[in-house]
Amino acid sequence: NSDIPRTLPMEAIALIFSILLTIVSLLLVVICGASGGIGQPLSLLLKQTDLISHLALFDVVNAPGVAADLSHIDTRSTVSGHGKEDMDEAMRDAHTVVIPAGVPRKPGMTRDDLFNINAGIIRDLAEGVAKNCPDAFVLVISNPVNSTVPIVCEVLKQRGVFNPKKIFGISTLDSVRSSRFVYELDNSIDPQTTRVTVIGGHSGVTIVPVISHIPGQRFTKDQLDVLTHRIQYGGDEVVKAKDGAGSATLSMAYAGAHFTKTILEATVAGKTGLVESTFVNLTADADSTAAFRATTLLDYFAQDVEFGREGVSKILPLPALTAYEQVLLDAAISELRVDVTKGATFAIDNP
Ligand code: NAD
Ligand code: LMR
Repeated sequence: NSDIPRTLPMEAIALIFSILLTIVSLLLVVICGASGGIGQPLSLLLKQTDLISHLALFDVVNAPGVAADLSHIDTRSTVSGHGKEDMDEAMRDAHTVVIPAGVPRKPGMTRDDLFNINAGIIRDLAEGVAKNCPDAFVLVISNPVNSTVPIVCEVLKQRGVFNPKKIFGISTLDSVRSSRFVYELDNSIDPQTTRVTVIGGHSGVTIVPVISHIPGQRFTKDQLDVLTHRIQYGGDEVVKAKDGAGSATLSMAYAGAHFTKTILEATVAGKTGLVESTFVNLTADADSTAAFRATTLLDYFAQDVEFGREGVSKILPLPALTAYEQVLLDAAISELRVDVTKGATFAIDNP
């Protein structure tokens, strides 16, 4: 019968592939802090991807309720809720653990002011990873990211399960903001497809947007000053507007879901060539970062990373910087050293 198509359309092939993936892989993603301002919309966005077959929501409050609500959404994945005493059950054999657990800022606070509370929370969650899913990809949202990522790494080192290719600080919101704020000055770019590399870290002056690499950009020094300040202090803009009710949650959930899906596409679906700026331990690609580590004395840095099945496939070379960007980078490096050392020291002193 000539009416029967001889080949399957691409959409059908993609659908079959995603169904097979869901059935075969039983891919578990855990959200720690799932009932929170970020956790809930992040879980909602991740409920919509067929790359995940089981979404486990862990929180010290309200997780079963949030899970029951999400579980009525008509996508294939299963959702389970796990309360305070059930961290082990939530994390067991997880493929990926996403961590937006902890307290957010109020007006007048720096991210570092969150350290005293969030450091202990992150250490305990990292212990949970080491015990229940030592091979998992760990994606850290909780602030201060410049210090919480070193805490996770040090805990995993202590437990003998550290793989730097699998631990990420999510700094995607800095790139998302950069694209949006650049677009507000120059709407000839498409903000969704113009990814801005942001190097350094995730707080204040450690956030260094590499605006010079956006094709066709010709900003004046005054425009660059405004743009750079807005990107570095975009978080404060939201904290101030929310006036005591927390920090960025919706834009962060958007950025966090984007980053999580990128990790799953690379590690599960085997998609190649995916690149994002993310805060990593530089030994994930020791050879290509050796010279940078020797000159800066930094073992952690946000930079463009190419992903592969094992997580970090390549930490890309630093982009060529303008003199303006080099000044920003120099300021970032000295502050980053302090933040990283604070996190690593906490984990070493509080095993
Ligand atoms: P929130 O207070 O609304 O939610 C945090 C959730 O974590 C709460 O539901 C709380 O019960 C839970 N929690 C606390 N301790 C826990 C533990 N031990 N185990 C599991 N869950 C626990 O806060 P939020 O607005 O969602 O922000 C969360 C964190 O994300 C903050 O530290 C904030 O600074 C950070 N953040 C980071 C970025 C980024 O770009 N990386 C952006 C925005 C916010
Ligand atoms: C952000 O950049 O919005 C987050 O890091 C939250 C904050 O405290 O600013």
